[in-house]
Amino acid sequence: MAELKVEHLEVRYGDLVGVADISLAVADGQVVALLGSNGAGKTTTLNAIAGLAQVARGRIEWRGETISGEPAYAIVSKGLALSPEGWRLFVGQTVEQNLRLGATALADRSRIEALFDRVYTLFPRLAERRRQSAGTLSGGERQMLALGRALMSEPRLLMLDEPSLGLAPAVVEQLYDTLKELHRQGLTLLLAEQSIPLALGIADYAYVLQTGRIALEGPAAELERNEQVQEIYLGMSAVNSV
Ligand SMILES: Nc1ncnc2c1ncn2[C@@H]1O[C@H](COP(=O)(O)OP(=O)(O)OP(=O)(O)O)[C@@H](O)[C@H]1O
Ligand SMILES: [Mg+2]
Repeated sequence: MAELKVEHLEVRYGDLVGVADISLAVADGQVVALLGSNGAGKTTTLNAIAGLAQVARGRIEWRGETISGEPAYAIVSKGLALSPEGWRLFVGQTVEQNLRLGATALADRSRIEALFDRVYTLFPRLAERRRQSAGTLSGGERQMLALGRALMSEPRLLMLDEPSLGLAPAVVEQLYDTLKELHRQGLTLLLAEQSIPLALGIADYAYVLQTGRIALEGPAAELERNEQVQEIYLGMSAVNSV
């Protein structure tokens, strides 16, 4: 059974359409990728799932329950966490304070110390810099912090919005190793990426978005061989499905 189901999602920004019609499913333990070029609707889709963008039409279901329309904190407390595009850190606050904010919706407060341990084990650099303000961190470290903050709510589904953006290749490689480790530990991942090889290298299944709709979807191994993926990126292909 799908843990997360998005059905005919439409999100509007005033008169503008953010996404027009997105349907997708994520099963327990899967890694699912959302691919698409600039403006395709990846961030809007993740924000709608996280309760940060208002759903105009359609429905979002989490483990059999409709969550569209619920506030962001309620969605986090149900086990969905987002590591957002551009990190959205509190740069004047310390690493530790930023991480603690990630645990705001955590029902079982006694879990906090164990969650700090988990994040600091995963990212020793954050442990070394725990008393440093987030504004002093490098790009790679900020991405670690955004990811760590999402993990502080002890999610079952972790959503990541373009975690590789602006990072050096070696840092990206490390980050993806961490994502693979988190997946091995049982976390379900929904990942928005512009980089096709990165996303398909980790995903089980992928959706390719184009101007707010699903243009193509399939198992990652199949999409890797599908030339249409590249064409959609370059805006050369009509909407199609496999
Ligand atoms: N706050 C906003 N106000 C108005 N329009 C917006 C807003 N955010 C996004 N949009 C529009 O919604 C559409 C989808 O944007 P979105 O940011 O979801 O794309 P994306 O796939 O995440 O792109 P990128 O790869 O550049 O991050 C675009 O046409 C964009 O211009
Ligand atoms: Mg985006």
